[in-house]
Formats: sequence, structure tokens, C-alpha cells
Amino acid sequence: MAYNLLKGKKGIIFGALDEKSIAWKTAQQCYNEGAQIVLTNAPVALRMGEINKLAEACGNAPVIGADVTNMDDLKALFEKSMEHFGGKVDFVLHSVGMGLNVRKGKDYTDLNYDWNHKTFDISSMSLHRVLKTAWDLDALNEHASVIALTYIAAQRVFPDYSEMADAKSLLESISRMFGYYYGVKRKVRINTISQSPTKTTAGSGVKGFENFMSYAEKMSPLGNAPAEDCANYISVMFSDLTRYVTMQNLFHDGGFSFTGVTPEVLESMG
Ligand SMILES: NC(=O)c1ccc[n+]([C@@H]2O[C@H](COP(=O)([O-])OP(=O)(O)OC[C@H]3O[C@@H](n4cnc5c(N)ncnc54)[C@H](O)[C@@H]3O)[C@@H](O)[C@H]2O)c1
Repeated sequence: MAYNLLKGKKGIIFGALDEKSIAWKTAQQCYNEGAQIVLTNAPVALRMGEINKLAEACGNAPVIGADVTNMDDLKALFEKSMEHFGGKVDFVLHSVGMGLNVRKGKDYTDLNYDWNHKTFDISSMSLHRVLKTAWDLDALNEHASVIALTYIAAQRVFPDYSEMADAKSLLESISRMFGYYYGVKRKVRINTISQSPTKTTAGSGVKGFENFMSYAEKMSPLGNAPAEDCANYISVMFSDLTRYVTMQNLFHDGGFSFTGVTPEVLESMG
């Protein structure tokens, strides 16, 4: 169902890799809600070609390659987007993450620090880079909304999430800190959404993911939140209905974050 929540708004969506991606569903939802969008991903991800299907389904949205660790790429992305839109940007989705040690099976107590740096650069500092690029170009409209996706391992220990827990803590801190500065400068709001485990390429990279999904399902009064519903929530956060929400970490997890234990989990212990 669409409510024209984003009619006339223009936004950049990072991170749609394939149709399982949270960014993919969000792009579709934003388009359905009346927004114009620009899609972006790392050049290597664009080579898969999947994103062109999404672009077509979103009113032939431009697809612009940008590695989030490269400031020149980000500058070109914002410049081209503003040129395409004929004006500034109203919303940005940061849906990017990559844990190199996780992917290569290196334990948390035995990190390769070169990979660890790269993990932070891609997964956390990239939000700072995106915001700094927008800041320098004055690319965001007043009350523009920026969302980055995160996970509860930033607050509580989930051992197999490893270095990505540290990356998400940093991401959430950057969102709060830049949220302050950008709020004062331009009334731009910046929030993170902490999503349930979701079967995507990035999600499935975590060790024991399937078991973990069913644990989280049993621990969430509403069940795990699907990616489509995350996209709905993001659309609301991009809309004018949430103009004074900023610097928050917003849980979209079916109640997982505030549940201590459930009968289903206890039963499985017997
Ligand atoms: N899937 C989950 O269980 C889950 C739960 C909570 C939060 N998240 C977060 O949601 C976000 C989106 O992940 P997803 O689950 O949709 O998986 P995904 O694999 O579909 O998306 C991750 C994206 O990051 C992009 N990316 C990686 N390196 C990049 C770079 N250098 N430059 C630009 N883009 C780059 C990838 O190409 C990909 O499109 C991530 O931040 C992830 O940590 C996921």
C-alpha cells in the first residue's frame, strides 16, 4: 500500500546488491511512495548487473558507482545526483557493511588489523565520509533525513558478530555526533535503525546465522522483522511525519531488544 509519503522527495540509496538487500526493498518502497531516487553501490557490485533491474522498476533511476571509502567517488555521486534531481537531496540510506575478518573466518581475539581497518572504513567511517561530502557540497535540504542500518550487537555481546559489533558501535556514534552538527547547521536529521537478523548476503556471512535467526524469532514477541517492513519504517523516517526525530538508534526488531526470555526459548533448553 502506498500513501504518497515521499511525494516530491529525492534521495540516494546506497547498498542494493540483489533483491534480498534491505536497500533494494527500500528503493522500491520509496519509489512507490512517490520519491525520485538515485541508486549507488561499489563498482564491483555494479558489475553483477542485478541493480539495473531495480533501476528500471524505479522509473529508470540513475545508477552511479561509488566506493564508500573513496571521497572522490562520493563527491562525484552527490554532484551527479544533484544535477539529475535539479536540486538538493531530501534523504539518504546508508545500507553498507562488510566484515573482512568475519568473512575470512578470523576470530575476534585474532583479528587481522589491516582487514579490521578496512571493515571500519567500509562499515562505519563511510557514514562520516558520506555526511562530510554532503556537508561540504551543501547537498542536503533542510529537514533532510539520513538513515544508516545497524544491529543490536553494538550494545550487547553477540560473540559471532565479532568486529562488526565494534563497527556498528562506531556507526551509531557517528550518526549521533554528526546528527548534532548537521541538526544545528541545516536541521538535517540522522538516525540509525537496528534491524532484526535478515537473510541477505551480508547477514548470511555471520557464523551460525540460521540458528541465530530462529533464536531471535523465538525471542521476539512479534517475530523477526522482515526486510519489507524495515523498508516501510525507513520510508516513514524519510517522510515529513518524523521531522523532529534525530540522533536516535531505533529498534526495528519485533521487540527482541527488550525481551529477557520467552517460554519457547526456555523449552528448547530442556
Ligand atoms: N542482514 C541482517 O541480518 C542485518 C541486520 C541488521 C543490520 N544489517 C545492516 O544492513 C545493511 C545492509 O545489509 P544487507 O543485510 O541488506 O546485505 P547486502 O549484502 O545486501 O548489503 C550490503 C551492501 O554493502 C555494499 N558494500 C560493501 N562494500 C562497499 C563499498 N566499499 N562501497 C559501497 N558499497 C559497499 C555491498 O555491495 C552491498 O550492496 C548493512 O549495514 C548491514 O550490516 C543487516
